[in-house]
Amino acid sequence: MIPVTKTFLPPKEEYHKFLNEIWESNQIANGGTLHQKLREELKSYLKVENIILTANGTLPLQIALKSLAKNGEVITTPFSYVASTSSIIWENCTPVFVDIHPEYLTIDETKIEAAITEKTTAILATHVFGNPCNIEVIDKIAKKHKLKVIYDAAHCFGVKYKDTSLFNYGDVSSCSFHATKLFHTGEGGAMFCRDEKLYNELFYRHNFGHDGPDKFQGLGINAKLSELQAGMGLAVLPYVEKNIANRREILNIYDTELDFTNIRRLKIRENTTWNFAYYPIIFQSEKNL
Ligand SMILES: Cc1ncc(COP(=O)(O)O)c(C=O)c1O
Repeated sequence: MIPVTKTFLPPKEEYHKFLNEIWESNQIANGGTLHQKLREELKSYLKVENIILTANGTLPLQIALKSLAKNGEVITTPFSYVASTSSIIWENCTPVFVDIHPEYLTIDETKIEAAITEKTTAILATHVFGNPCNIEVIDKIAKKHKLKVIYDAAHCFGVKYKDTSLFNYGDVSSCSFHATKLFHTGEGGAMFCRDEKLYNELFYRHNFGHDGPDKFQGLGINAKLSELQAGMGLAVLPYVEKNIANRREILNIYDTELDFTNIRRLKIRENTTWNFAYYPIIFQSEKNL
């Protein structure tokens, strides 16, 4: 079976190795050596330029909304985890829902423009189940209406779109490294942003407003990933490829063995290298469950 909620745990001694390093350095927080090592390893594995590691996958959404949505209306879809919408409300913005595409299950990009008002500041779209939204069309709409785009990419570890990490799209992209995810740090997450100026702002916002030991740039909160979390990530990362390959094999079995007379599987967007993290089944109606 593809495990949706079961946590992958690396061999205990491999995590212990990193715990020993923490005991030696006596640093357990504030961007220590394990945090930095994980950042570099993830940058290289994912081939992304900028990554900010965070304590979970909800805080990056809140921080991105704080910086980009500025109390406005945010176009989104409820077909996501609750954190996407609750973050919008938490940041004193207003969620405006549009429907999802019946096959891709991501926000229906053809319905976005009708939901835009003079108060709209951003689009927060989820690449649900690791399936990319229609990035090109969303980008065009955002440029036309001068909106910011935040992608909730909580499910997208390892997913590529057009041969580059899915995290490389949008003004900001976020991921969750929660224990149930393909790659995890127990609790944890990350924020991705290619624009240097915005990246610097997101960085200080996740670190109480500091961007250096003595420098304050503005309002921030504490969203930092600890050394304990980083150690777990470093112990899990070497197994990610194998875990993806396992899931791919299981998925092939589902594809060949399931009876698709009354159910459909998710349609994966073209040009996507998927991570096989989930296998949603679509029934014809709730009565047919
Ligand atoms: C789509 C989506 N967004 C956000 C989150 C929140 O991530 P976290 O639990 O790491 O805060 C999740 C968590 O499962 C999620 O599935």
